[in-house]
Amino acid sequence: MRIDESHRIWLIASILILGASTAVYVLYALAAPHGPSGGSPIGLIFGIVGFGFMIYAGLLGARKRVPIWRLGRAQGWMRGHLWLGLLALPLILFHGGFHFGGPMTTILLWLLIITVLSGVYGAILQHYLPRVMFERVPMESIYDEIERLRGQLKGEAQGIIDDLCGTFAESAEAVPVGVESELRAGGFTAMRPRGGVAVTYGLSEQETEPIKSFYQTELLPYLNNPTDKESRLSDYTRANASFTKLRMLVPPTAHPAIANLENICEEERQLTRQVRLHRILHVWLLFHIPLSLVLLLLSVFHAIIALRY
Ligand code: HEM
Ligand code: HEM
Repeated sequence: MRIDESHRIWLIASILILGASTAVYVLYALAAPHGPSGGSPIGLIFGIVGFGFMIYAGLLGARKRVPIWRLGRAQGWMRGHLWLGLLALPLILFHGGFHFGGPMTTILLWLLIITVLSGVYGAILQHYLPRVMFERVPMESIYDEIERLRGQLKGEAQGIIDDLCGTFAESAEAVPVGVESELRAGGFTAMRPRGGVAVTYGLSEQETEPIKSFYQTELLPYLNNPTDKESRLSDYTRANASFTKLRMLVPPTAHPAIANLENICEEERQLTRQVRLHRILHVWLLFHIPLSLVLLLLSVFHAIIALRY
């Protein structure tokens, strides 16, 4: 989600709530004979309201997982999540009078701080990274798709090499046609005309030598292991140099086919970028979600224990 105009009302409301709470807190802290404390009536109100905001924030996860709870618009929930989740931190600091207290309350406060900071980090990422990546596609399905797309690219490259050199390339794997994926939607652009019409280039045995050698020493190792940074083809500039060199060694009739191979390598690089982006966009959630759940659970314990004793 982008932090756009639609957040204005939440921003204003949050500033008002924060301003009013700060005013109440200052007056209460000055008036309290023993300083502010979580157990005083106003301290308790801060605790309950802050905890309420935390529960609201936590319900975002429940809303996503329990279909009958899909009340209201997802975007509205998300906006509430960001702003109320953020407000929970100052309110809970007011609740405890800025004391961290014993081990239990110290852990709670740190959990809250990390959850809120990780949330802010994630919100900033989502604001700046490409819109299409907002979709929460599970990492496993990204990997499944990647494998299929990579198989497809390798098959296409092998087809081109076979056209150039006669049947020579490692036999292509069977690959599904027309894989429409999140990845392609995410800026992964097909640049080559697809569909394998067999072309005969009429190259002599000697003319195919540089192509065979390039395939065996650079292209095939790269397509088998596209994330290997050592490979020249994993980097645009170095790949460009490799292909320029190859073009100088083969007759011009083969140049369009070489350009297709070059585009296949570019698509591989785009896939690698896509996975990296996806990982960056979601890895923080591995902190945010479990920590927030532990936080909510421990908060319930804290409230019960603190009120009982
Ligand atoms: C319904 C919600 C809550 C209730 C009823 C509640 C109740 C209390 C009570 C009665 C105290 C005073 C006990 C004492 O001084 O030892 C207290 C202190 C405190 N609470 Fe809460 N609390 C709630 C939520 C939270 C949450 C969500 C957090 C943090 C994430 C939190 C953090 C603290 C801290 C740091 C203190 C100060 C401990 C100290 O000064 O020694 N509380 N709370
Ligand atoms: C106590 C406070 C918070 C709690 C308990 C909490 C809890 C959660 C949970 C459980 C999810 C997972 C939802 C899902 O399953 O998809 C989530 C996602 C998220 N949270 Fe929080 N959160 C809190 C505060 C914040 C804050 C302060 C921010 C940012 C300012 C934030 C930003 C986000 C974002 C961007 C997501 C990802 C939503 C998505 O892409 O689907 N959170 N949070």
